[in-house]
Amino acid sequence: MTHILHRNIASTLPVAVGGQGINLIDADGRSYIDASGGAAVSCLGHGHATVIAALHSQLDAIAYAHTSFFTTEVAERLADRLAQDAPGNLDHVYFVSGGSEAIEAALKMARQYFVEKGEPQRRHIIARRQSYHGNTLGALAAGGNEWRRRQFKPLLIETHHIDPCYAYRLQRVGESDQAYAARSAQLLEDQILTLGPDTVIAFVAETVVGATLGAVPPVADYLQRVRRICDRYGVLLILDEVMCGMGRTGRLYACEEDGVVPDLVTIAKGLGGGYQPTGAVLLGSHIFEAFRQGSGFFQHGHTFMGHPMAAAAALAVQETIHRDGLLANVVAMGELLDLRLRERLGHHAHVGDIRGRGLFRGVELVMDRGTKAPFDPLHKLHARIKAEAMARGLMVYPTGGTVDGLIGDHILIAPPFIVNGAQIGMIVDRLGDAIDAALPVGASLDPGVAAVSRNG
Ligand SMILES: Cc1ncc(COP(=O)(O)O)c(C=O)c1O
Repeated sequence: MTHILHRNIASTLPVAVGGQGINLIDADGRSYIDASGGAAVSCLGHGHATVIAALHSQLDAIAYAHTSFFTTEVAERLADRLAQDAPGNLDHVYFVSGGSEAIEAALKMARQYFVEKGEPQRRHIIARRQSYHGNTLGALAAGGNEWRRRQFKPLLIETHHIDPCYAYRLQRVGESDQAYAARSAQLLEDQILTLGPDTVIAFVAETVVGATLGAVPPVADYLQRVRRICDRYGVLLILDEVMCGMGRTGRLYACEEDGVVPDLVTIAKGLGGGYQPTGAVLLGSHIFEAFRQGSGFFQHGHTFMGHPMAAAAALAVQETIHRDGLLANVVAMGELLDLRLRERLGHHAHVGDIRGRGLFRGVELVMDRGTKAPFDPLHKLHARIKAEAMARGLMVYPTGGTVDGLIGDHILIAPPFIVNGAQIGMIVDRLGDAIDAALPVGASLDPGVAAVSRNG
């Protein structure tokens, strides 16, 4: 009997004992292709010799020094590297230990920025429905996933949610990408005007929506429009790249592809690639200057922020991505993954949409491709696909509630950046078989007539 309160008390989990490259191995000797990097974390796969060596050497030097007493060389070097690689004026870094902590810090930083600037009346946060920003109370309040928020609502700070830019379900028939991007971004301006422009602190959004929608990228110039609206009303733009950042989309920062620089950006999962828990907020020089010329400090902090072991892991991961030119592999293998998914699932009767960027791809499942009606949530299709995939030695990241937090199913695929073409083939083969095995009895396996609706 376990003494761990596991995520699901009823489940019996295999015991992970080892990992090499894109594979994880359990105590029974079974091997699993880690095609989701856990939850889009393991960007270098498992057992990477460079990262392990960096961790050994950091442990021999100094494992921990509290950030109110000391800085460390390794944390300084990591901050230099991140500031150097980040777009625009994002040239300072605030280290934390994970994605939720990064969002909490970004929200408080945004609020304190306006206090420093003499605009303490700004108090509203606007975010999007069907987003996920973490499970701590501030991050959960920002997130827009109904199921995750529901029972904790009485504890959440007030936030405001607009529709996401989610073309598969919200773009109208016959509406161009440009027109949809404009209509979708306009929701932000309308919300700012409703609340009163000088009362809004920030708009928070995932550049490419991960866990709750399944790798949904913005359409056309949506983010550029959002940037302009924020600028018009002095509202800060916080992009959450905890999942989609650090190379996952083929760019170090996903927003580079959209030609947008946020005021604050949160990163975490791929930063340390799972070798240590870590995360960060990158802040624009204007935010930093407001703090420097104002109170001189950000009123926040955690015991383990800037942890030297976490910094050593992240530095080694980021230097390896550079050294080995892995972003080019993310782009090339991402295109291959997209192609293979379309070959195997593009005409599948129950695949409504295939989307994403780089090695960050989503497959949305529907009962009926014509009406886009999802499966009955009681069938728990996403959970069945996960189990069928695991039985075939494949880890993918299926989730339910895609449509509105309660109904709908999608699968997130996010393999390590070191994946090769043959492995992509195996991933898609096993995934296709797992989907077919998980469908309800009587569901059609016949190919549909039309191709999937759009290429994200
Ligand atoms: C976009 C996004 N933000 C924040 C988080 C929260 O990160 P963590 O689980 O490290 O607290 C996640 C986790 O999945 C995420 O995908």
